[in-house]
Amino acid sequence: MKVFITGGAGYIGGTVARILLAAGHEVAIYDNFRHSTRMTIPPGAKLFEGDLQDTDRLRQALSDGGAHYDGVMHFAGLIEVGQSVTEPELYFHNNIAGTISLIEAMVATRHGRLIFSSSAAVYGEPLKTPIVEDAATIPTNPYGETKLEIERMLRWSAGAHGLRYAALRYFNVAGAIPGYGESHEPETHIIPLILDAALGLRENIAIFGKDYPTRDGTCLRDYVHVEDLTRAHLLALDAINKNDPGPAGLIYNLGNGQGFTVKEMVDSARRVTGAAIPTVSKPRRAGDPAVLLADSGKIKKELGWEPKFDSIDAIMASAWEWHKVRRRRA
Ligand code: UFG
Repeated sequence: MKVFITGGAGYIGGTVARILLAAGHEVAIYDNFRHSTRMTIPPGAKLFEGDLQDTDRLRQALSDGGAHYDGVMHFAGLIEVGQSVTEPELYFHNNIAGTISLIEAMVATRHGRLIFSSSAAVYGEPLKTPIVEDAATIPTNPYGETKLEIERMLRWSAGAHGLRYAALRYFNVAGAIPGYGESHEPETHIIPLILDAALGLRENIAIFGKDYPTRDGTCLRDYVHVEDLTRAHLLALDAINKNDPGPAGLIYNLGNGQGFTVKEMVDSARRVTGAAIPTVSKPRRAGDPAVLLADSGKIKKELGWEPKFDSIDAIMASAWEWHKVRRRRA
């Protein structure tokens, strides 16, 4: 298969690119390197530097050398919940306008298969957990709002142009494959921050909010391994290639169905690393729902997806293997 990956220099896009290349697929990466570096591009991938909002550049990249791709996987986007609350317009531009540009370029170059990285953030504070796909979507932050808006746009574009798409609503993506894992610039995500504290690169880890309605008062999240997530992308691309899901597309949750609180994540990291990892209490972070827990029954039933990593310590250990090496190199 030939796959065009936006945001392929990032954590998730870069992992998917590596797994696809290792399986013998052809990969082209489109990235603006604003939150990543060229160092993260896997050998063997074709590279296009450009901004998502530059439709001409995208069009040119998608048709470069007479190429045609079996699918576009769209990972590029801004992802920080906290920042989206203080700078919503940045998210509207990058995520929504960027995706409009991608759709236009795809339509112009006759590319009709898209896998979109959506998010559990579309649900907001769930009324019932685990969350099923047809639960109410009332985002509690602009980041989630942009993902929801993009899903809605895709429905109309699919109706107008026959675009086939799947929107995969990731819960908290975690873990690493050998040689590549999670890092963001700036880093705001819990696992890399905890592991930095384990290495002594930070004095402690801040726990944002201790009065949530959860078993220990800290936020509960559903952590899904990035390798399991990659398999879901391949299954989804295969599914839309075989059958046209129509304008409603395929919408799937991707999570483990098991929740862990922030405190439990720190405990897991203590077990895995053997480090003390001091914590400090901080006020709640704006936009954070208390609980995000997935019901992924739909993709299991319809596409046969089955996550292999179901233990939080195994996910944490894979992240730790990568994190130690990355920090040693830096
Ligand atoms: N947290 C802390 N201290 C920190 C960093 C995070 O307590 O220093 C807490 C957060 O408040 C949250 C939890 O750890 O409760 C996880 O936070 P992350 O920033 O790692 O991840 P988020 O849950 O905010 O967001 C992630 C992705 C989103 C996705 C969401 C879906 O970044 O793209 O998961 O669950 F939408």
